[in-house]
Amino acid sequence: CMVRHYKFNIVTKDATRLCSTKPIVTVNGKFPGPTLVAREDDTVLIKVVNHVKDNVTIHWHGIRQLRNGWADGPAYITQCPIQPGQSYVYNFTITGQRGTLWWHAHIVWLRATVYGALVILPKRGVPYPFPKPHKEAVVILGEWWKSDVAAVINEALKSGSAPNVSDAHTINGRPGPTPSCPSQRGYTLQVQAGKRYMLRLINAALNEELFFKIADHQLTVVEVDATYVKPFKTETIVITPGQTTNVLVEADRLTGQYMVVASPFMDAPILVDNVTATATLHYSGTLSNTAAALAIPPPKNATPVATNFTSALRSLNSKEYPALVPLEIDHSLLFTISLGVNPCSTCVNGSHVVAAINNVTFDMPRMSLLQAHFSNIRGVFTDDFPGNPPIPYNYTGTQPANFNTNNGTRLYRLAYNSTVQLVLQDTGMIAPENHPLHLHGFNFFEVGRGLGNFNPTKDPEKFNLVDPVERNTIGVPAGGWTAIRFRADNPGVWFMHCHLEVHTTWGLKMAFVVDNGKGPNESLLPPPSDLPKC
Ligand code: C2O
Repeated sequence: CMVRHYKFNIVTKDATRLCSTKPIVTVNGKFPGPTLVAREDDTVLIKVVNHVKDNVTIHWHGIRQLRNGWADGPAYITQCPIQPGQSYVYNFTITGQRGTLWWHAHIVWLRATVYGALVILPKRGVPYPFPKPHKEAVVILGEWWKSDVAAVINEALKSGSAPNVSDAHTINGRPGPTPSCPSQRGYTLQVQAGKRYMLRLINAALNEELFFKIADHQLTVVEVDATYVKPFKTETIVITPGQTTNVLVEADRLTGQYMVVASPFMDAPILVDNVTATATLHYSGTLSNTAAALAIPPPKNATPVATNFTSALRSLNSKEYPALVPLEIDHSLLFTISLGVNPCSTCVNGSHVVAAINNVTFDMPRMSLLQAHFSNIRGVFTDDFPGNPPIPYNYTGTQPANFNTNNGTRLYRLAYNSTVQLVLQDTGMIAPENHPLHLHGFNFFEVGRGLGNFNPTKDPEKFNLVDPVERNTIGVPAGGWTAIRFRADNPGVWFMHCHLEVHTTWGLKMAFVVDNGKGPNESLLPPPSDLPKC
């Protein structure tokens, strides 16, 4: 294993999309940002230098950061932001992980343009547990706003309604031709007939679960969230913000061009974004003016397509890559996910939309929770986050009349190495919606999912405790639930939040605090000397 050094200069750069130009915040002037490549067991040092006028942090999404939350990145959770003119070196070792992850800014909505791929190759000499691809390509899906994204956040916080949706989706930073800007070229993936390719798909969109497909080509899913799965074939992938999916594509046509599409999947009636991003799969030797075979995306409410895809995911669970599902449970938790409306004196209508877990709307602290935990600073957070809904109700049925939530910076405390079963229950508060929940610091197993209310006596009988998919971000179905299990073997403070940025902004977030164990390698490491100060 080796030590790899990267330098991330945070700089502003003009970018033209949808036939108009605006300055965006980037890493090294690139959009999407640079791909970070490492091998399992490598140590990676990334020096982030902030040359812009906004505060910055970078999160290495899905990297477990064992005992090393100082390198995790979410602002005010594990570190204070890197202020203008300052720098910070993220220093971490990749342990027991290989596959596709990604990195992104983790402060307000800066990740709209500050993101890139993180490719972890297996240890030298260790093959993939699937047929070797001829070539690999990173394919990052995203969103594009014509307006200033910061203005969209303020709107989300102040208004009584949902903020503006994006103006387009993107594939590797480009929307492709759109009705309003037919001249713009999309991303092109070059292939040779008869060869096999691996696409490393990442959903970096701020607020949209997406479908992905390629005309006339099947996709073989081999990995999600940097964990191997039992390979299966599908026409369409569904991928939530935060998730990654590796697929094999056989270039089994002789020639031609084939459309690649990324299109929105959502059940929420309040969003109206219909813009599909397009790219091209191009067989070498084909004239570039050849008409591309069309890919028809599923309709945006195609829940069965999403359900079929999700239920096909299984851990590989081989001898080399066993699924270590916790079988005994120390903490059995149920978290409701809801939207709500709270009074707000500075808001347009005297109230604003909020979001909550177990009716708690998370207040961001003014210093990092990890520092407060490490140095025993009182008054920054409490550790009384409710493990179950304070007042149980019919979560997906008739809703209580009161949409108000309670604010707090409340954490849930876990003993080192204790095991957790967490049921994430969507509710019909305001509207049922899909929620991609992301847990920092851990991978978890998805042992069950269903529609309606979770039934604590009947549903666990159907749990898959043998080969459930292992991941770091899970799509909680609209009007349904999902059950996950993990072992709290990583001391520190770990954020959990909806990866729809608008919901996070509204307060759909909380954190776990995991105490140190008694063994020599069971405690949080001390902070690095260059850790930014608030
Ligand atoms: Cu990819 Cu806390 O985020």
